[in-house]
Amino acid sequence: MEEILKSIAAEIVRQDDWGKTAQYIPELASVDPQQFGISVCLADGRLISAGAATKPFSVQSITKVFALVAALGRVGDQLWSRVGREPSGNSFDSVVLLERELGRPRNPYVNAGAIVTTDALLSGREPKMALAEILGLIRHMSESDSIYINETVAASEQETGARNKALAYYLKSHGNLNSDPELTLGTYFHQCAIEMTTDQLAMAGRSLAGLKGAPKVISRQRARRVNALMMTCGHYDGSGDFAFRVGLPGKSGVGGGILAIAPNVASIAIWSPGLNLYGNSHAGTRAAEMLSNATKWSVF
Ligand code: DON
Repeated sequence: MEEILKSIAAEIVRQDDWGKTAQYIPELASVDPQQFGISVCLADGRLISAGAATKPFSVQSITKVFALVAALGRVGDQLWSRVGREPSGNSFDSVVLLERELGRPRNPYVNAGAIVTTDALLSGREPKMALAEILGLIRHMSESDSIYINETVAASEQETGARNKALAYYLKSHGNLNSDPELTLGTYFHQCAIEMTTDQLAMAGRSLAGLKGAPKVISRQRARRVNALMMTCGHYDGSGDFAFRVGLPGKSGVGGGILAIAPNVASIAIWSPGLNLYGNSHAGTRAAEMLSNATKWSVF
């Protein structure tokens, strides 16, 4: 595994096209796209990595997976009355389906669905309590206390997040937001601004992969469902392409991170900040494809 990761990292740093960083969040736009890290936690408990695996990056939408785990723990299957389980075939911040489908987002990984999930975690308490729950869960799952919210990134998105604000107010108009939209959005932007290294993220994925020794935060049946949604919806309108190329459930973030799960076998975290047309890591997807080809890991 050391050799595989080293050779993937060596091949990635030789590439010409790194993709483009997220332009709509100024703090992410200015990150150097030519960076790469990869970490793998194996079933025997080993953590193996290559490249910039200890450099914190903005995990962004990957937190939607942890927020979903927390929200299911808090409200259980009632969450599904507010958010669906189907791929959207649209961009992560699309508004179009929300109007047609009367304010019930397609799934918890598109922005509208994640805003509803965060709202379910927030209901009846202060944003800092909901954020403490998400951050606490992530720290517990990764067995690392040094995971923080980057306030500058949160403020950057708060300033430029007009699209998410539109989604939240539209959800509110359909009665699918319990809290004040501004409070839910503030919580959501801060959740997205959590920073982790690929080492920490791979560790955090162990419970979803069902690896031995992972913290018991979720039942196997629930983990299977969270993973199924990663497979069908985790890369938005690029989910089909990711399944085709990689064959594993995966969740991307516009910070350039990818968490991929090989059930019972491995938890994989990859980071490279340049994105493809769908807002998913360009080099990260290539690296995930190389890893699954080299290991034959696939759910198919
Ligand atoms: O809400 C947003 O637009 C960002 N905070 C997160 C979006 C994201 O990470 C999409 N992933 N590729």
